[in-house]
Amino acid sequence: MSDEKKLRLGILGSGKGTNMVAIAEAITAGSVPAEVAIVLSDVADAPILTRAQERGLPARFIAPGKFRTKLDEEAEAAYIAALKDAGVELVVLAGFMRILKGEFLRAFPQRVINIHPSLLPAFTGLEAWKQALDYGVKFTGCTVHFVDQGVDTGPIIAQQTVPVLSRDDADTLHGRIQFAERQLYPMAISALARGLVRVEGRKTVTGAETKS
Ligand code: GAR
Repeated sequence: MSDEKKLRLGILGSGKGTNMVAIAEAITAGSVPAEVAIVLSDVADAPILTRAQERGLPARFIAPGKFRTKLDEEAEAAYIAALKDAGVELVVLAGFMRILKGEFLRAFPQRVINIHPSLLPAFTGLEAWKQALDYGVKFTGCTVHFVDQGVDTGPIIAQQTVPVLSRDDADTLHGRIQFAERQLYPMAISALARGLVRVEGRKTVTGAETKS
C-alpha cells in the first residue's frame, strides 16, 4: 500500500462530518489509497471543520456568498482556487448542502462525487430518508454518484440498500442509512483511487474489467 500512488481528495461538507471521518479513518487503516488534501465548508462553525483539524487535516471555511442554495461567482472561484492549490484530484461532497454546477464542474470534469441518502433515482433532494418513510417503501439506502448538471442525477458508482422497519421514525431510519454511508463511501473512493471505475454514458462500469 505504501508504494501505491495516493489520490488527493478535497472534501466539502456543511455539517457533522461523519462521512469525512469515515473516509479519513479508512485511509489511515490502509484500505483507501488516497489522502485528504483539504476539507472545505460553507458553514463557519460546522463540526466537519473541527473534526478535520483534530485529525491534523487542513480545513477552511470559505464564505458561500449571497445565495442560499448555491455558491455565488466569487465564492465558486474561491472554492476552485483552494482545491487546485491543494492539488486536489477528486472532489468528494460529504453533506455539502449547495448545488455545484457550471464553472465548478468544468474545473473538475468527472472528478466530483456525492453521497445521497436514498437509492437514486428515488427521493432526490432534501431529507430523502423522510421522503422514503412517508412514501412507505420497504427498502431505501444510499448512493454514491458522479455530480452532473442536474440534482442527484449523475452516473451511479455504488449503492447500498437499507431496510425500512415498521418501528422506524425519521431518526432511526436516517441513522441506519448513515451507518451504511460510512461503509459505502470509503469503498467507492477506494475503487476510484485504484482506477476501477469507468464512465460509459450515464452508466459506470466498476471492477477489474475496467482495466482490460
Ligand atoms: C449525509 O447523510 C449525506 O447523505 C447527506 O448529508 C449527510 C451529511 O452527514 N447529503 C445529502 O443529503 C446531499 N443531498 P455528515 O456531515 O455527517 O457526513
